[in-house]
Amino acid sequence: MQYKAVRGFKDILPHQVGTWNRAESEAKRIFGLFGFQEIRVPVIEKAELFARGIGQDTDIVSKEMYTFQDRKGTYVAMRPEATASVLRAYIEHKLYEVYPVQKLFTIGPMFRYERPQKGRSRQFHQINAEIIGDPGPKSDSELIFMVMWFFSCLGLRDLILNINSLGCPRCRGPFRAELKDYLKGYFAHLCPDCQRRMETNPLRVFDCKVETCHEAVKDAPSMPDFLCDNCTDHFETLTLYLKGLDIDFVVNPHLMRGLDYYTRTTFEVQTQELGAQNAIVGGGRYDGLIKELGGPDNPAIGFAIGTERIVELSGEHPTQGEKGPDIFLAPLGKEAEDKSFIWLQELRKGGLSCEMEYRSLGLKAQMRRADRLKARKVLIVGEDELTKGKGILRDMVSKEQRELPLDHVVDELIRLRE
Ligand code: HAM
Repeated sequence: MQYKAVRGFKDILPHQVGTWNRAESEAKRIFGLFGFQEIRVPVIEKAELFARGIGQDTDIVSKEMYTFQDRKGTYVAMRPEATASVLRAYIEHKLYEVYPVQKLFTIGPMFRYERPQKGRSRQFHQINAEIIGDPGPKSDSELIFMVMWFFSCLGLRDLILNINSLGCPRCRGPFRAELKDYLKGYFAHLCPDCQRRMETNPLRVFDCKVETCHEAVKDAPSMPDFLCDNCTDHFETLTLYLKGLDIDFVVNPHLMRGLDYYTRTTFEVQTQELGAQNAIVGGGRYDGLIKELGGPDNPAIGFAIGTERIVELSGEHPTQGEKGPDIFLAPLGKEAEDKSFIWLQELRKGGLSCEMEYRSLGLKAQMRRADRLKARKVLIVGEDELTKGKGILRDMVSKEQRELPLDHVVDELIRLRE
């Protein structure tokens, strides 16, 4: 029986890891400049945390969550996103007592039972950042500036930044009522889920993937027309800051973002290069969520980047080890093999990458192997060389050879590299 990975779960193979590492280390470097600290949270949480945080009516919670009972009967879920987990940790460990504004990022796998297709899988990865404790709009623009700069450092081009404001609970109420009224006129065109959502959570109709529901909301009322003075001011100041920072954006009044926790600013960046699954980052402000999850009434804003999608866009970058070893040891005969085996480990301790073949092979076969590995130098040591106390060092690029004393060979090789 040969096993295959579970549908929607993918391996990241050695030749791909270089590009992943580059994206993740650039994120760490750039986020660090903005004062972010890394946090690592578990991949499993109580299922209720996500239902409460993301919203029971969202596709993520109602259709896509990997939920199961553990052996004690507790309902747990594999995290479909990181925000709820980060906030749970923030509240549980009272991080707000340490410093009033916390900037946290986390990187890792998320799980959603969606229909796998190009750019969409059931295990995928996110680079997630949150600014907790500041009401904005400076933080909103800073966060957007940071992610756009990160994309530009990775060489991503032709990106479209969409922004919107979903208002606060005060201005959302009248909008919901108006939207509900509007949707009543389209009731027959809505799928059964949206017919129900129209009553319970009409904003979620905007996220529905069914074509007739998509059509139905095309001319729906838009949130920006309902914003109260404070929310209008917040949004206008954000747009002014973005202009000041030279960030191009499009105001998209129908950007609703599929999760219930958002208030005020929402944003998403699209690329034209990935086909249907073209969002590479999504985020927004969620001022009521921390309180909703049992914490203090602190505002916050964050985003999550889809790592697979930016890796796909940023081309291949060499994986560590692909450059080839600094030295390949080519011993001939048992005594040389045993000595080389010890030198091999000492050279590695000295900071050189090196390889040797553990099967006893002739010189030609060993040189072929060194060539395939793209070794930069080869040290050849046979019986004659041991007797003379001098090995042969071959430079694989210039093809030059010279003798190298064997009594302090490890130190000699380390010195040669310096
Ligand atoms: P989201 O829009 O659900 O937001 O996901 C963010 C990004 O994750 C998407 O733009 C996409 O690039 C990637 N993504 C989502 N689902 C998949 C999938 N099945 N396969 C591949 N990539 C995927 C959130 O998750 C929010 N927690 C973002 C946030 C953080 N808001 C505030 N703070």
